[in-house]
Parts: sequence; structure tokens; C-alpha cells
Amino acid sequence: MKFFVDTAETDQIAELNDLGMVDGVTTNPSLILKSGRDILEVTKEIAEMVDGPVSAEVVALKADEMIAEGRKLAAIAGNIAVKVPLTWDGLKACKVLSGEGHMVNVTLCFSANQALLAAKAGATFISPFIGRLDDINLDGMELIADIRTIYDNYGFETQILAASIRTVNHAFQAAHIGADVMTAPPSVIKKMAEHPLTEQGLKTFMADWEKTGQKIL
Ligand code: E4P
Repeated sequence: MKFFVDTAETDQIAELNDLGMVDGVTTNPSLILKSGRDILEVTKEIAEMVDGPVSAEVVALKADEMIAEGRKLAAIAGNIAVKVPLTWDGLKACKVLSGEGHMVNVTLCFSANQALLAAKAGATFISPFIGRLDDINLDGMELIADIRTIYDNYGFETQILAASIRTVNHAFQAAHIGADVMTAPPSVIKKMAEHPLTEQGLKTFMADWEKTGQKIL
């Protein structure tokens, strides 16, 4: 499973990138706002740091304007994935931009039918939002499983990018179902390293080591 980091905070991306944990990055208008940075500048900086796809989102609502914005974002670097919303206009923009050879991430996907349309429009990635479905008491994981089944039924190459991952359990379940990619905030990726038995075991080892009176260095 590929790990994308869902943030525009370059210091946090750098820390995970140094560990080899970053296969790509996703941003959105809310994350750009949070970073306080200029979208073109920060996207360029991230694209230079990371080898994999860096998603940058258009903000126009009409297809022709989305296409123009998408071309401008794609011109920042060769590893930009243009993010378009899953609307009819977004699908039109996806078809044109992917036809021009750009990677396209179709975002704000909340149903398997939407995912089917995105694949037919040539999306490189489809981003089903797990956490936001859970927020309204729907099962985000069921959506990932449904899209996996449908894409496999017909051999669609669009990659399932499990998004809006809020917990380590979301990450585990998305991997278990077979999502191609997950995008998660740095805090969730770091939390995946934690286990109470690891902490408890380490405490015991440290206490026993202290009693030996030995040193390694
Ligand atoms: C993905 O591309 C989105 O930026 C992100 O996963 C949304 O997550 P949220 O629902 O926690 O805001």
C-alpha cells in the first residue's frame, strides 16, 4: 500500500519523507489555508521534496476553468496530480486533463457509482472520503470495499486512494480491503507505530537493564 501524507506542512512531510514513508502528498484548499502558504509556492516546494504524486486541487466550479487551473497546477512540476471534485464538470475536466497526460485525482467521492464514473473519465486516483462518511453514521469502509469489487470486476486501473483517514483503524481496514493508497495526516501515520504492549515491554526491559549495571556505549 502506498502512503500519501495529507498535509501542506512541509516540515512534517520532510520528517516522514526522510524515513521513506512518503509515496506522495495530498493537499486541498482547507490544508492550504491551514498552512498559511501560497498554493503555487508550497506545491512547488512539496513537489521538489517528494518523488511521488503531489495532489493540488482546482477551485473553479466550471469545467473549462477547472481545466485552465489544472494546466497551471500541472505545469508546476512533473509529479503534480490535478485534483478535481466529483461533479459533472469535474468529470469533464478529468477527461480532458487525463487525455493530455496529466495525473488526475478525483476527490470528494462518497458513492461507488461516483467512483465508477471517475474511472470511466480516466481518473488516475479516486478519493473516497472515509472519515466524512463515518461522521454521518455511514460506513466509509463499505464504500472502499464496494469500489474495490467494482474496479476489479472490470479491470479499471484507477487507483483507490482511501482519504479522510482519521484513525489507525481506518488505515488498517483500508489496507485489509486492498485500497491502493491511503492518505492520512502525519499524526495518524506516526500513531501506527504505537502499541501499549510495546511500551510496557520496553519499560520492563529498561528496568531490568538498569539492574545489570552494564552499558553498551
Ligand atoms: C484527501 O485528499 C483530503 O484532503 C482529506 O483526506 C480530507 O480529510 P478530512 O475529511 O479529514 O478533512
